[in-house]
Amino acid sequence: MRTQIGIIGAGPAGLFLSHLLHLQGIDSIVIESHSREHIESRVRAGVLEQGTVDLFNETGIGDRMRREGLSHHGFELRFNRQAHRIDMFELTGGRCITVYGQQEVIKDLVAARLNAAGQIVFEVEDVSIHDFDSAKPKIRFRKDGQSQEIACDFIAGCDGYHGICRPSIPAGALSLYERAYPFAWLGVLAAAPPSSHELIYANHERGFALHSMRSPSLTRLYLQCAPDENLENWPDAHIWEELSARFEMDGFVLNIGPILQKNITPMRSFVAEPMQFGRLFLAGDSAHIVPPTGAKGMNLAIADVRLLAQALARFYSSGSEEELATYSQRCLRRVWRAQYFSYFMTNMFHRANVADAYDYRRQLAELDNITSSRAAATNLAENYSGFPFR
Ligand code: APR
Ligand code: PHB
Repeated sequence: MRTQIGIIGAGPAGLFLSHLLHLQGIDSIVIESHSREHIESRVRAGVLEQGTVDLFNETGIGDRMRREGLSHHGFELRFNRQAHRIDMFELTGGRCITVYGQQEVIKDLVAARLNAAGQIVFEVEDVSIHDFDSAKPKIRFRKDGQSQEIACDFIAGCDGYHGICRPSIPAGALSLYERAYPFAWLGVLAAAPPSSHELIYANHERGFALHSMRSPSLTRLYLQCAPDENLENWPDAHIWEELSARFEMDGFVLNIGPILQKNITPMRSFVAEPMQFGRLFLAGDSAHIVPPTGAKGMNLAIADVRLLAQALARFYSSGSEEELATYSQRCLRRVWRAQYFSYFMTNMFHRANVADAYDYRRQLAELDNITSSRAAATNLAENYSGFPFR
């Protein structure tokens, strides 16, 4: 097989890159280790920034998102058993977020690629990449037991945090920056109408909780738990008790319903620099991870591949490698801004040590500052709705 761009991984980064390249007349092949059914049903992130929504609309994949996505003008910070609304729309001069599940984005992108005769090879095994320090990189893998090779001009490593691309870069060529957190999120998808029209980020003595949604009849909820939490210790009734306690406030009723899915989301901050080695370019989770508290993961993946597609288009139209050479540096500005914001949100809401009463009172003062100062609330709203630089 031969293509211009060999893309490893059919997550938001790999699929959207393939879509953008197609719009520029550049050929690509995506290879993915899981099945189509698997990637289309995996419940993950759900918040699209205004810039991501605009990009999906401009590139022709926004139809279903416009119909089914839930546009939010604000969100709630809940602490001391009181609600404080951040009016993002008003504070940012008209920016909002759209709640639309990552697996819906994946379905739309897979459909768009296949309708345009794009090639996605699912269920590949033993993937390896070769010669990416030369002008003739190669990807090898097995499909249905047969060995295959793709010869390409460039490789896009869009294979997530656990992928093979980043570890294929010679030791010493990358600098890794990391932070681990002493907690994780237990997430549930419940067949219950959302209990509020907007997201609720709650700081509670017992730990963080988040109320989100996927549709008018599906609620997505998270609660802070131990990093090595065993789901068996969390029967449904216990989850509802804990969520009800953490969201408790006069006049608030948490809607309860059958739990359809439960999972544990680890919390990690991570950046690999630079996001390039020779003709291998990393994008999305393969190069960086943020804890989900800032709702930035999918947006960062989309922002990376937007720059990568532009740089590749410039290369093919003019032969100039200038944009490719600055790809990493330009991505990393946004990446580090998201690192800062996600770290800040995480530390403002989670209890690293339940016995640390000083830290809890400091967090309450920080939340009080944000909700009583228009300047502080504006800054939060700007960061949450997306960074203005492109
Ligand atoms: N070969 C082929 N595919 C692979 C390999 C491999 N060796 N390793 C991993 N993959 C696939 C995974 O199965 C997955 O479908 O690469 C894809 C990576 O997708 P994501 O993990 O979704 O990463 P990315 O596209 O960068 O999107 C980032 O995902 O984790 C969320 O919150 C995060 O929203 C963010 C988004
Ligand atoms: C989600 O709906 O899954 C979600 C929302 C906001 C976050 C993280 C996840 O900060």
